[in-house]
Amino acid sequence: MALRVRVCRVDQIIAGEINAFAVTGVTWPVLVTAVDGELIATPGVCPHEDVSLAHGDLVGATIVCPGHGYRFDLHTGRCAHDGGLVLRRYPVTLVGDEVWVDLL
Ligand code: FES
Repeated sequence: MALRVRVCRVDQIIAGEINAFAVTGVTWPVLVTAVDGELIATPGVCPHEDVSLAHGDLVGATIVCPGHGYRFDLHTGRCAHDGGLVLRRYPVTLVGDEVWVDLL
């Protein structure tokens, strides 16, 4: 059974920016990004080491970690530098104007 949590309203998501939202009970914020018309939600922490991605750079559909500069494709979660690293993507569900994600 999925653990679905409400993250934000759709109008809180700024296209072309990394939008970070605190979720009760979750250590790192959930990131929601609008890429090519798709809402993509990910953990707010780099899978390489514990560095916040909320302060990373967004270049098109790629998020660049401020830690060591690894690049993650938001469409797939794959890391361009290390094939063993994947930035998880949470399933997103819209309920009216609210964004919900499945953490588990
Ligand atoms: S901590 Fe993100 S690339 Fe190293």
